Amino acid sequence: MNQSCAVVDHLSVLSDAIRVRMLAVLEGRELTVSELCDVLQLPQSTVSRHLKTLSDGDWVSSRRDGTRRLYTLPLGDMEPSVRRLWQVVREQVVASRAASDDDRRLKQILSKRRTKSEAFFSSSAGQWSRLRDELFGATSHLRAMVRLLDPDVVVGDLGCGTGNVSEWLAPFARRIIAVDASKEMLKSAREQLTAHRHVEVRHGALEKLPIESGELDVALMMLVLHHLPEPQLALVEAARTLKRGGRLLILDMVSHEREDYRQTMGHVWLGFSEKEIRKWLASAGFKDVRWSPLPPESRARGPSLFVATARRSSSSTEKEKPNVSCE
Ligand SMILES: C[S@@+](CC[C@H](N)C(=O)[O-])C[C@H]1O[C@@H](n2cnc3c(N)ncnc32)[C@H](O)[C@@H]1O
Repeated sequence: MNQSCAVVDHLSVLSDAIRVRMLAVLEGRELTVSELCDVLQLPQSTVSRHLKTLSDGDWVSSRRDGTRRLYTLPLGDMEPSVRRLWQVVREQVVASRAASDDDRRLKQILSKRRTKSEAFFSSSAGQWSRLRDELFGATSHLRAMVRLLDPDVVVGDLGCGTGNVSEWLAPFARRIIAVDASKEMLKSAREQLTAHRHVEVRHGALEKLPIESGELDVALMMLVLHHLPEPQLALVEAARTLKRGGRLLILDMVSHEREDYRQTMGHVWLGFSEKEIRKWLASAGFKDVRWSPLPPESRARGPSLFVATARRSSSSTEKEKPNVSCE
C-alpha cells in the first residue's frame, strides 16, 4: 500500500462500526464466517461483505482448515504504525455495549467448540488407542520424544545390524557411529544409511570398539548383548568410549527358556536377569543404573524385553576403574 495514502485507506476501512467489532473479535483467535455471524448476530451476506473489505485492506487474513476457512486479525504481521492505529480504535470499541455483547457470545461459541471435542472423547474413550494407531501409526509419540535428545549428541549404535536404529535416530543426532562385526549386516546398513552423511558405519567388535576413548555421548546396545560370550567386556568398552557423564542404553530380553534360539539365531544367553545386568554395569564403572521391563507389544511373539540405562561416572571422585570379573 502507498505510504502517503495508507493511513487514509486504513481510516476508511475502520470507519465502519461493524468492521471494527469484527476486528475486535478476530484479535488473537481464528473464527469461521458462520461463527462470526453468531457472535455479531448478522446475516452471512453482511459478514462476508465486510470481511472482503477487511481482507482487501490487509486487516484480515485467512487460511483453509479442511472444508472450512478461518479468519483472523494478523496483528503480528502488521506495521507498528498500523498496530498503533488499531490500539487507539480498539480502546474506544471495547468499552461499548455492542462489544461486550459480542464478547459474551464469543465465549459461548468457544465453549461450544470445547464441548464438541469433549463429546468426541467421552464417546470414543474405549476406541481412542486403536484410532490413534490407525490415524498416526503406533510409534508417532516415540518419534516425537526422540526430540528430547540434545541435538548435539554423538551416538554409538553398538551392534547396529542393518542400521534400523541409526536410521531412526539420524535426524536427531549430530553424529552416529554404527558398529557391527558382520560384514554382511554392515553392507545392508551402508545401503540403508547412504542418505545420512553424518552416520559412519564401522566394522569392529563390541569387545574392542573402533571408537576413540570419550568420543560418545550416548552408547546403544540394542538386542546385541545376548550374542556376546562375555558381555562384561563389551560393557567395559562402552564405558571407555563414553564421555564422563555419557549414557548407556541396553535393550535386551529378560531371562527366558527358548532354548531353540541358540541354534536358530545363535543366541549365547537366554536373556538376562536384572541382578546380572546391574552387577555387570557396576563392575564396568557405570552409575545411576535403572532397569525396567518393557510391556509387551500386541503383535510381538518374542520373549519379554527390558531396558537398562546407566551413566559413566562424571568425576574422578566417582568410582572410575572397571572391575571386570567374568563368571
Ligand atoms: C540381533 S542383531 C540387532 C541389530 C540392531 N541392534 C537392531 O536392534 O536391529 C545383533 C547384531 O549384533 C552383531 N554382533 C554380534 N556379536 C557382535 C560382536 N561381538 N561385535 C559386534 N557386533 C556383534 C550381529 O552381527 C548383529 O548384526
